[in-house]
Amino acid sequence: MITSSMQINPPDYVNNKKLIQWVQETADLCQPDVVCWCDGSQEEYDTLCQQMVESGTFIKLSEETRPNSYLCRSDPSDVARVEDRTYICSLRRQDAGPTNNWVAPREMKETLKGLFSGCMKGRTMYVIPFSMGPLGSPIAHIGVEISDSPYVVTNMRIMTRMGRKVLELLGDNGEFVPCLHSVGAPLHPGTADVPWPCNDKKYIVHFPEERSIVSFGSGYGGNALLGKKCFALRIASSMARDEGWLAEHMLILGVESPEGEKTYVGAAFPSACGKTNFAMLIPPHSFEGWKVTTIGDDIAWIKPGADGRLHAINPEYGFFGVAPGTSEKSNPNAMATLGKNCIFTNVAMTPDGDVWWEGMTDAPPDELIDWQGNRWTPDCGRVSSHPNARFTSPASQCPSLDPDWEDPKGVPISAFIFGGRRGDTVPLVYQSANWNFGVYLAATMGSEKTAAAAGKIGEVRRDPFAMIPFCGYHMGDYFNHWLHVGRTLLEPPRIFGVNWFRKDENGKFLWPGFGDNMRVLKWIVDRVRGNAAAIESPLGWMPKYDAIDWTGLDEMTSEKFSKLMSVDREAWKKELLSHEELFALIYDRLPKEFTHIRELMLSTLWLSPEHWSLAPERYAVEN
Ligand code: OXD
Ligand code: MN
Repeated sequence: MITSSMQINPPDYVNNKKLIQWVQETADLCQPDVVCWCDGSQEEYDTLCQQMVESGTFIKLSEETRPNSYLCRSDPSDVARVEDRTYICSLRRQDAGPTNNWVAPREMKETLKGLFSGCMKGRTMYVIPFSMGPLGSPIAHIGVEISDSPYVVTNMRIMTRMGRKVLELLGDNGEFVPCLHSVGAPLHPGTADVPWPCNDKKYIVHFPEERSIVSFGSGYGGNALLGKKCFALRIASSMARDEGWLAEHMLILGVESPEGEKTYVGAAFPSACGKTNFAMLIPPHSFEGWKVTTIGDDIAWIKPGADGRLHAINPEYGFFGVAPGTSEKSNPNAMATLGKNCIFTNVAMTPDGDVWWEGMTDAPPDELIDWQGNRWTPDCGRVSSHPNARFTSPASQCPSLDPDWEDPKGVPISAFIFGGRRGDTVPLVYQSANWNFGVYLAATMGSEKTAAAAGKIGEVRRDPFAMIPFCGYHMGDYFNHWLHVGRTLLEPPRIFGVNWFRKDENGKFLWPGFGDNMRVLKWIVDRVRGNAAAIESPLGWMPKYDAIDWTGLDEMTSEKFSKLMSVDREAWKKELLSHEELFALIYDRLPKEFTHIRELMLSTLWLSPEHWSLAPERYAVEN
């Protein structure tokens, strides 16, 4: 059957032939009722929000307590990223590597063509131009998402620099990453829409050689806001490998001393380890004059500069954070960021039209409407918000935002921090002997499973660089790329390991966390600047008790600190041997450096005391 081509009517400022052709082909395939080119204006945003209020997708929150903000409830089957439905469709299976799902591109394209055929019937197809990173920055890149979800349009406007100015910058021949998304729920004449359309069949697909993304069936977060995990991590990591830079699952923060000296660090922690809290940390009272500033809370794009240093930008424009657990106590800066102009998804609603989630206040309200729209009381035996409930908020509203967060050149990175959730074995903080040891540390980073993930609670899952779900190519190649980047830098950042989650013999956390993390951060910054003493340990360099400022934290005795920092020989031998599992998985592309480093660490441990600790009688060489 020959159908006539659909009218896509590009605005007069759109002259990019590749874009016009792609939009035309997509419209012909998906058969929407209308095509809308998003200009990113406030008016467009407000109109879409109003339409979603009318269709039942959005609930307007109280204008007094939460101005210009909305609550959205997803379908209960569509609440998180779907890693088992996420594919890296490189031309060759071995380039996706053993940690990614793979299907041959041609076969996947056939499947997708079937799914997308007519999938937008009865809906509007939105064309969403966006820039990841400040417009025109040499570190930034442009994408265009086509989506049939107005929820996606409004979230993309908060999470990226979106709209007309991006298309103007793209010009006639500019490069962009095409990102195609559909909720997969065509609306047939006479059928009523639902508040959260989606499809049980889900595909989140990346074509790294073509640098394109196709997502079907889900409207939620990383599955649908394609600038974030799909572009800024999976596709960008593959671009970065080809072009000699790094796309990382990292927050970026600045530490400012009372003298006004600024040091920037990037930090990678697996999902649900408190990245947003760390990025917005408020130092304890005793750190008068010290300030932590936020560049980003989730993703960093990092390029080598002419000065031989690494420079980083946050490619995002907003925060898409986990709401439960966020409070005035855990993250006052995030709470202030959420005051207005936000979208909340799958949180509970108070009777007076505000939001609430588990952990927001010590005592829950007497009554709520839960994330599924049911009446909720504290004794009902259910949680009120989904554990993966989210806020979408403009970064510009964050009180700790760094003044240089939009600097197109990025900020110079002096240190990388890697950390997982480990109840035992891993000390509070240590510094790798050099770049290669640091890459090994990050590659073998592990985190214990929490109740939110499948598998036995407490079991350690290796999550190299916190990138397991986000690396768009073979993990072995990724490690080699990191080793290579280090070799090209005149001044490579120093690399540190941290563990906020170590417990004592009674299962109690040894470290208070939150603002007190500043004490560790300050040692790291001092160390980078050559201002802090450290002693050699079997794992690298460590702070002595008196190298850290404990003012105001009386509970941290030197005995407790020794416990937090101890290196148990048997536990570490086991730890190092357990790295074998990851190494075996990627054996054919495992960097040869890793085998040497592991041998060296094993022999160092062998020579160290059975329980190496920072007790004064054990202090060794100073540096
Ligand atoms: C996220 C994640 O949503 O890491 O940021 O899962
Ligand atoms: Mn993340």
